[in-house]
Amino acid sequence: MNMHLRHSTSHIPAYAPAGNECVLFETAWTRQLPLLLKGPTGCGKTRFVSHMAAKLGLPLTTVSCHDDLAAADLTGRYLLKGGDTVWVDGPLTRAVREGGICYLDEVVEARKDVAVVLHPLTDDRRILPLERTGEQLEAPGSFMLVVSYNPGYQSLLKTLKPSTRQRFVAIEFDFLPKAREIEVVAEESGLDAARVEPLVELARRLRALKGHDLEEGVSTRLLVYCASLIDAGLDPREAVRSAMIEPLTDEPDVRTALLELMQAVIR
Ligand SMILES: Nc1ncnc2c1ncn2[C@@H]1O[C@H](COP(=O)(O)OP(=O)(O)O)[C@@H](O)[C@H]1O
Ligand SMILES: [Mg+2]
Repeated sequence: MNMHLRHSTSHIPAYAPAGNECVLFETAWTRQLPLLLKGPTGCGKTRFVSHMAAKLGLPLTTVSCHDDLAAADLTGRYLLKGGDTVWVDGPLTRAVREGGICYLDEVVEARKDVAVVLHPLTDDRRILPLERTGEQLEAPGSFMLVVSYNPGYQSLLKTLKPSTRQRFVAIEFDFLPKAREIEVVAEESGLDAARVEPLVELARRLRALKGHDLEEGVSTRLLVYCASLIDAGLDPREAVRSAMIEPLTDEPDVRTALLELMQAVIR
């Protein structure tokens, strides 16, 4: 593969690709295009970004967006330090200055003014205007903006505006096919593949209930937790209950139905 490795390849977080996303990421980076990752929680988006950042030898700045996060939290602000006011860069500004990857996780959660600072960075100007300091930072060629969001989650109110969405190359993520997911969960937890198989089977059945009884299906992350508990010696049914059922629902009826499904699949 044609890679521009700038540092050693050690300590690259493991990532099992579902398709062509690694090539797509690298090509987007080479061509200085921003990237949007869509997909359910716990399916590997964050892992993918850390894997790619390490592979490309780029520093990674990750920001978990929340409903209080404003543009100034990303760009920076003047702070009082011993009687002086000093400008302190926010994480986005730092990533632009150092030419790294800035990953805004769950970007739809952030306040509206965040879109305003992202716009000039996501078109061919690639600039970050810092209104407060009067600076206009030009992003170096190696800088890349990556954002993620979970389109199915919550309501239609929490979605990206088309004018923002259409500035990104987008990759849709979903859970891995069964055999790959078994490999990933076995690798991450240390539990044998043969013992992981029924857990993944159950997860797939629970995912099929999404939209009916459940808002969200079991993530790969929860599968890894569950397999880790079993690998550490916990009784499998107890592990499934704590890592795959209790986190999904607070409704007693739904929980009972899920536990029945578990009895059928996990011995
Ligand atoms: N394709 C994958 N390759 C390796 N590990 C994965 C993969 N998908 C999910 N995982 C495992 O699931 C966990 C949660 O994934 P994460 O990237 O945090 O999900 P997301 O960011 O989509 O919510 C990871 O820490 C890792 O253990
Ligand atoms: Mg994540």
